[in-house]
Amino acid sequence: MTEDLKRQKILVTGAGGMLGSALAPCLKKRGHEVVALPKEDLDVTSYAQVGSTLKGVRPELVIHCAAYTKVDQAESEPGLAYLINGYGSENLALAAQALDIPVVYISSDYVFDGEQTSPYTTWDKTRPLSIYGKSKLAGEEAIQRHLNKFYIVRTSWLYGPNGPNFVDTISRMAKEGKPLKVVCDQIGTPTCTLTLSEYLADLIATGRYGVYHATDEGVTNWYEFAKEIVKDLKVEVSPIETKDFPRPATRPKYSVLDKTTLVHTIGKELTPWKKALADYLASVREAQKAASH
Ligand SMILES: NC(=O)c1ccc[n+]([C@@H]2O[C@H](COP(=O)([O-])OP(=O)(O)OC[C@H]3O[C@@H](n4cnc5c(N)ncnc54)[C@H](OP(=O)(O)O)[C@@H]3O)[C@@H](O)[C@H]2O)c1
Repeated sequence: MTEDLKRQKILVTGAGGMLGSALAPCLKKRGHEVVALPKEDLDVTSYAQVGSTLKGVRPELVIHCAAYTKVDQAESEPGLAYLINGYGSENLALAAQALDIPVVYISSDYVFDGEQTSPYTTWDKTRPLSIYGKSKLAGEEAIQRHLNKFYIVRTSWLYGPNGPNFVDTISRMAKEGKPLKVVCDQIGTPTCTLTLSEYLADLIATGRYGVYHATDEGVTNWYEFAKEIVKDLKVEVSPIETKDFPRPATRPKYSVLDKTTLVHTIGKELTPWKKALADYLASVREAQKAASH
């Protein structure tokens, strides 16, 4: 690692979201200067605002966490999904390229169609099934089209502090005694925003631009994931099939990502998803205990 990559001035977009809010403290802990901008301070759909912000802040790197992430709602408002994920990313790419600032673009496993039965490598063909997936791919293409220096990092099934997410929803429903029926025929990898932030911090320290897959380690389905979340709560979880739980957006039935390139680049193994989940649930319990005292 070169010295100048160890301590950079980094601008984080979408800093009020789930990943952005986990990433900023992680980067600070690593010694970076972080300018964390939520949507209220930087709306990526405004080219003028993106340009003036980059000129004013002059970061050495931008980590682009801002996104439209409502997977089902995107089917009924594609214009907005493309505006934020496609056009917003293009704005950032154009403004960053003009100032020679590298960008990390966070992308999704939903750029794949789920027809494979072995993990998707970064060289596999994309074919998104949903508007959300298509708009995330549009963002990837804008980044590749306009920037010389970029990282595209695809991740999957995120959960963590500060966001509505599957882990918090399942935990809450279990405590409320609600019946839990969860799909068992979509296969992928849960990823904690806290571990993903560490992988991203490791990656940007290498200066090795490119396309990466970054998730926690292992493979599961949503049903098994839910069982793991509530395993200490003695509640029953029933498996159901996707066809019995129709949703507006089609999800890939298999979206495990191959992380070989990332592991090779950062020189570290990734955290098993069950360990990342156990650590997250322990931190939630700690925070609840502290709040009740
Ligand atoms: N969550 C997952 O399971 C998952 C899986 C794979 C990849 N990803 C990707 O990971 C990244 C982070 O996702 P996340 O889970 O942290 O999502 P998130 O919690 O929804 O965060 C995204 C943030 O972007 C903000 N935003 C929306 N429109 C914006 C705009 N025009 N300008 C600036 N900010 C804007 C959102 O604000 P509002 O909420 O106020 O609109 C939100 O704070 C995204 O690129 C997402 O596509 C997520």
